[in-house]
Amino acid sequence: MRVGVLTGGGDCPGLNAVIRAIVRKGTQNYGYDFVGFREGWRGALEGDTTHLDVRAVRGILPRGGTILGSSRTNPFGSADGVRRIRDNLAKHEARALVAIGGEDTLGVASRLHEEYGIPCVGVPKTIDNDLSATDYTFGFDTAVNIATEAIDRLHTTAESHMRVLVVEVMGRHAGWIALHAGLAGGANAILIPEQRFDLDQVCEWVESRFKTRYAPIVVVAEGASPKGGEAVLKDDSLDSFGHVRLSGVGEWLAKQIERRTGKEARTTVLGHIQRGGTPSAFDRWLATRFGLHAIDAVYDGDFGTMVALRGTDIVRVPLSEATAKLKTVDPGLYAEAGVFFG
Ligand code: F6P
Repeated sequence: MRVGVLTGGGDCPGLNAVIRAIVRKGTQNYGYDFVGFREGWRGALEGDTTHLDVRAVRGILPRGGTILGSSRTNPFGSADGVRRIRDNLAKHEARALVAIGGEDTLGVASRLHEEYGIPCVGVPKTIDNDLSATDYTFGFDTAVNIATEAIDRLHTTAESHMRVLVVEVMGRHAGWIALHAGLAGGANAILIPEQRFDLDQVCEWVESRFKTRYAPIVVVAEGASPKGGEAVLKDDSLDSFGHVRLSGVGEWLAKQIERRTGKEARTTVLGHIQRGGTPSAFDRWLATRFGLHAIDAVYDGDFGTMVALRGTDIVRVPLSEATAKLKTVDPGLYAEAGVFFG
């Protein structure tokens, strides 16, 4: 039997580890062969494929990015999208499809299975860690480690110059990266999309930090917004899933802090650095296990499911449940971090 594999949405460290595990176990244990669809749903729509076998996945475990490429193409954006995907699966004799992606990619897989009976299994990925039904997505740990290292480095330069350093991290709807890296890096304020921040309060934290003769580090998620204001956007363009391009809140915040406190403030935007490069050991472990269990789900004919981490177990959950709502930071968890603000 042949199985199709694709990676969609923003790339994320660990994607290659999933692909490798799927192909290795699928070939060795089940005698499957594989076809890779290039650049997510675009490849499935256009029939753009690449050969995928054990040889093709040699050496890719520690490599960042995805050997299949990725895109934010939405097949439901065109009237004949579903028909084209069905035709391409048939043409390449793929009897099942493993979709590795975040909320958008898996939302498409869920609809393709539920509404059109296309046999899909999902694997959750996103550095944002905002998929419900799984304790963690791979890519998140790597992103948190990168952001934490950046914060560590920013502390020393902030203190040498006694200036405020604002660090903008990724996190469109959820502040997981900001919260984990902010706590791990000893930030003096952490601002997340789930709770609008009070600018006066942020400035008070900044000033109180200076009183103790230390320089403040403010970690802000790109989707965070001030009370009474809107999220700061890079521009107004939308991707094919209707998302705006974020980024800019860090720069905006530094200006506001400078204006209100009179202290020099600078911004570092970590951006795609958080998504690039080699995955952490934890992400390689999680991604590998997700891949092994995803191909088991294909073998069992358990379509319309997504593999998920619960504690230390990998379980299967309905794709529809996994994509129904985002996993955001619980207010109680965020409140814990408040001890260190200011
Ligand atoms: O989906 C993950 C994410 O990292 C978001 O936090 C961020 O808003 C988005 O991707 C940016 O993606 P890109 O610039 O690659 O389109």
